[in-house]
Amino acid sequence: MSIKILGIESSCDDSSMAILENGHILTNLTYTQKIHEKYGGVVPEWASRKHMEAIIPLLNETLEAASVRLEDLNAIAVTQGPGLMGSLMVGIGFAKGLSLGLNIPLIAVNHLEAHITSLMIDDPKPEFPFLCLTISGGHTQLVLVYDIGQMELLGTTIDDAAGEAFDKIGKHLGLPFPGGPYLDKLARTGKPIYKFPITKLDNYNYSFSGIKTSVLYFLRKKLAENPNFIQENLEDLCASVQHTIIEILCIQLIEVSKKYKIKNIGIAGGVSANSGLRNKLQELQMEYGWNVYFPQFQYCTDNAAMIAMVAYFKFIKNEFSKDNFEAMARYPLVNL
Ligand code: KG4
Ligand code: ZN
Repeated sequence: MSIKILGIESSCDDSSMAILENGHILTNLTYTQKIHEKYGGVVPEWASRKHMEAIIPLLNETLEAASVRLEDLNAIAVTQGPGLMGSLMVGIGFAKGLSLGLNIPLIAVNHLEAHITSLMIDDPKPEFPFLCLTISGGHTQLVLVYDIGQMELLGTTIDDAAGEAFDKIGKHLGLPFPGGPYLDKLARTGKPIYKFPITKLDNYNYSFSGIKTSVLYFLRKKLAENPNFIQENLEDLCASVQHTIIEILCIQLIEVSKKYKIKNIGIAGGVSANSGLRNKLQELQMEYGWNVYFPQFQYCTDNAAMIAMVAYFKFIKNEFSKDNFEAMARYPLVNL
């Protein structure tokens, strides 16, 4: 039997739908909401409204692009959390309606498990066990993945996420929102000449508030001496910030890899698009004999393909959700 699953993702500011057939992506379409750029951050109320606006046109486009009819679907998968409550509720309400109307099962998916499972979409796939560093605007997690759906959370951020650090510092540097990709681009032609603290916690947790505050104080001091300091040194500033964030991320990864003797490393989430991080990981690959895996860019940032992928593995194990499940704004990846 051919299994066709519609995936729906609406946890933050990306409305995304995907159709998966027997574990292969037929289509993955994502609308990124532009409205938040002018506010310099995601405005939850706008996010839910924009999901409402997008959801039906997106469904129609996704079906058309995959040449699939609604009646061909075997299950509806949707992000249950974590994420913004209002945004999650739009996707979940829609998924429940579709499941009821089509009389097919629902599969609720943990967004963080989905980021990790995005590594299972394309070849080459990491061999188990592997370490996965999930780095996005909302999350920074180091997870030991034993098998599909079997994972142990080793560390997480105690304050800001890695992407949040890029975005907040980007804002101080006058970059558009989200700052991560702009900072990455500017860093390519800069040198990491400014030193910011590299925070290393004793357990496997992360902290990015130190670098954020340190950059802010440093800029205040320099701007008092020279109001054009940022414009005149933007590329070096970006390179220095990026270098520090990458160091913070990698130091912990190296330690965990040594402790658990695991050389298969997966990197997931929006920040995995960062070119400096990719270069650094290539160096570490050579130095420590690692095998490093990244999802394709469209599966790094929030997307429905990864939601449908988790659902596929659940479908073949007959793991369906009850129709009264609720959105979970907080949904930690506790050891699955
Ligand atoms: O996974 P994602 O789309 O959404 C969340 O679940 O948060 O990640 C978005 C984050 C943003 O913080 C954005 O600035 C960051 O990923 N990002 C990058 C790059 N591309 C996206 N950060 C650094 N360098 C990049 N090239
Ligand atoms: Zn995400």
